[in-house]
Amino acid sequence: MASKAQARYGEIMRDVEEMVNDHIARLRKSPANISKLKLLVPTVGQFFTPLPLQDAFSYQDHKRRISSRRFVAPSFNDIRLILNSAQAMALVKNSQLELVTFDGDLTLYDDGAVLTPENPVIERILALMRRGVRIGIVTAAGYTEAKEYYRRLAGLLDALAASEVSHKLEHNLVVMGGESNFLFTYTPTSEYKLERVHDADWRLPEMATWTDENVKALLDVAEQALLNCKTTLNIPVEILRKSHAVGIYPEKHHKLSREQLEETVLVVQRIIESSPAGQKIPFCAFNGGNDVFVDIGDKSYGVMACQRYFGGIAGDKTLHVGDQFLSAGSNDFKARLACTTAWIANPRETVMLLDEVQELGGGAKT
Ligand code: IMP
Ligand code: MG
Repeated sequence: MASKAQARYGEIMRDVEEMVNDHIARLRKSPANISKLKLLVPTVGQFFTPLPLQDAFSYQDHKRRISSRRFVAPSFNDIRLILNSAQAMALVKNSQLELVTFDGDLTLYDDGAVLTPENPVIERILALMRRGVRIGIVTAAGYTEAKEYYRRLAGLLDALAASEVSHKLEHNLVVMGGESNFLFTYTPTSEYKLERVHDADWRLPEMATWTDENVKALLDVAEQALLNCKTTLNIPVEILRKSHAVGIYPEKHHKLSREQLEETVLVVQRIIESSPAGQKIPFCAFNGGNDVFVDIGDKSYGVMACQRYFGGIAGDKTLHVGDQFLSAGSNDFKARLACTTAWIANPRETVMLLDEVQELGGGAKT
């Protein structure tokens, strides 16, 4: 039974793999082309690389024994992990991986936590960097001071600074805060190992409209919409207004329900979209697990700015790893526009994915 199931699942994966190849080929000829995959999945987006799904299935089947299960069918999580493996395989082939960007909360550490020295992700990130891969941490957490990022990322930054290649890796790691608003670069000699990069040295031409006036107008609308939700849903939250974000978070020891968080995101998103301020600049409203934030820009701009900072790394040589890929109210989803992605469910899966990349021999060699 197991070997039959294995062969069947493998064939299905091969069929989907071919549909993806056909989709890529048709779009390459003309963006107006409609593929079979597009007909079956109208919301399907751009593929930066082919996906070796059959090989990825074999790999995950070996690990998870999917085809040996008698009662539980291949699940959403099985498929998510197969897709991640396929993406890793496609990137590593021909040493294509040049930049890996990571989300912070739930990807590198638990929600609201910090990256401590014993976190197993540190040695994996260092291994990638030794092989010449650049690193970006693209987080919604928006601080204007290096000290605050150091507080969250000290385990990694200190390990980098203590490594034998510390100076060689200067400027090979960046932190993008507030989705796409504040860029810091790894500088081992500075007090907090990070130095703010001047806006003029990293901002994308598309960001020219993100003027103080437009930012303020959008955040005013967002703040009012959040306040309305607070009243309508009767939720015990405080409002936090920053220079490039506004959010709500619950009073101490209070946990917001999924329904409250999602309703707030959707209402706020709709109100901003239909306001004049929301037409002028992009924004991202998302559910942070126990808070809701509206940020200026989104992670597609954050990743694109990292690619540009490192000299113009292409989307098919970049991997963004994150936990928020449901389309409504998830902030990593937008990174799909800028590069290939891997959807992980917790920091342990990030470590597993990096082990896979390493096993496959990932990263351009320096
Ligand atoms: P991420 O998972 O690294 O993108 O971080 C998301 C979390 O950062 C949110 O859920 C918030 O708790 C926190 N956060 C802190 N400052 C900001 C901000 O300015 N904008 C959005 N989220 C923020
Ligand atoms: Mg996250």
